[in-house]
Amino acid sequence: DWTMAEFRAAKIAEIRAQVGDAKVICGLSGGVDSSVAALLIHEAIGDQLTCVFVDGGILRAGEAEQVVSLFRGHYHIPLVHVEAQDLFMDGLAGVTDPEAKRKFIGKTFIDVFEAEAKKIGGADFLAQGTLYPDVIESVSFTGGPSVTIKSHHNVGGLPERMNMKLVEPLRELFKDEVRALGRELGLPEVFVGRHPFPGPGLAIRIPGEVTRERCDILRKADAIYLEEIRNAGLYDAIWQAFAVLLPVRTVGVMGDGRTYDHVLALRAVTSTDGMTAEVFDFPSDFLPRVATRIVNEVRGVNRVVYDYTSKPPGTIEWE
Ligand code: XMP
Repeated sequence: DWTMAEFRAAKIAEIRAQVGDAKVICGLSGGVDSSVAALLIHEAIGDQLTCVFVDGGILRAGEAEQVVSLFRGHYHIPLVHVEAQDLFMDGLAGVTDPEAKRKFIGKTFIDVFEAEAKKIGGADFLAQGTLYPDVIESVSFTGGPSVTIKSHHNVGGLPERMNMKLVEPLRELFKDEVRALGRELGLPEVFVGRHPFPGPGLAIRIPGEVTRERCDILRKADAIYLEEIRNAGLYDAIWQAFAVLLPVRTVGVMGDGRTYDHVLALRAVTSTDGMTAEVFDFPSDFLPRVATRIVNEVRGVNRVVYDYTSKPPGTIEWE
């Protein structure tokens, strides 16, 4: 696609002009956006770029392994893998307000990036895979709506005292354009086609308090749901599918015993840009099969429900 080839060349020139010979830290989440941003910036400035992948305990199953093998193994791009589970889990203890979670996580990511920047002798720039919809849905000062729907952690969660300047080469793009750019850059199709995953991760898919135990339960259930979606050949027909662990417990029966465990909600939507979304209509045998597997295989969940809300009035994520 010649338009994307042109965009790629123009952005590379722009990044070189902006950055000069300074060092850049790129926050890599494992999602499509930050992966494409990292590849583009690496093409522009090579090893002036250091990618930082932070595991705060709020990632999906297998995420860390996939990202590390792609960037270190396949691309040989310098990548620091930070194990920051304690930092995130301790800070999230007792936090139940969705915006407070987002703000804490955004700030803590920056703290980690700044600490890593110091270790490489300082970096003047922080790169992020912020997209156009993140910008317009997030903060009023960017010219978007005057009501903040959610402070997207790429955009709104940045502390004012941050001493790095931002490099955001995807700021004008929508998701489908980022995917086209990813293909243009040779990013493997399994990465290009991944469902979006929010920076604040599983923390905003656990209404109420986020704990290690709840993250573990959600990770297991989410992995089963996605495995079934892939096995059914439905992954690419869906914009985004994920599970949400509710702070509600209900009574159930298992064998001879009574259970009193969490409710899990499943969500799947179609969309072209994440700004609006329709509920995905599964074949009728699919959800009962997933529900049975989850209740049988995941300790701590004894009931599964499906979210039938479109966006608007709902948002895609629950927080
Ligand atoms: P909502 O829930 O606002 O989400 O309808 C729209 C799309 O954005 C993703 N999302 C985020 N992405 N940082 C991100 O990088 C965030 O803080 C964030 N919050 C939501 C969401 O998964 C959906 O694809």
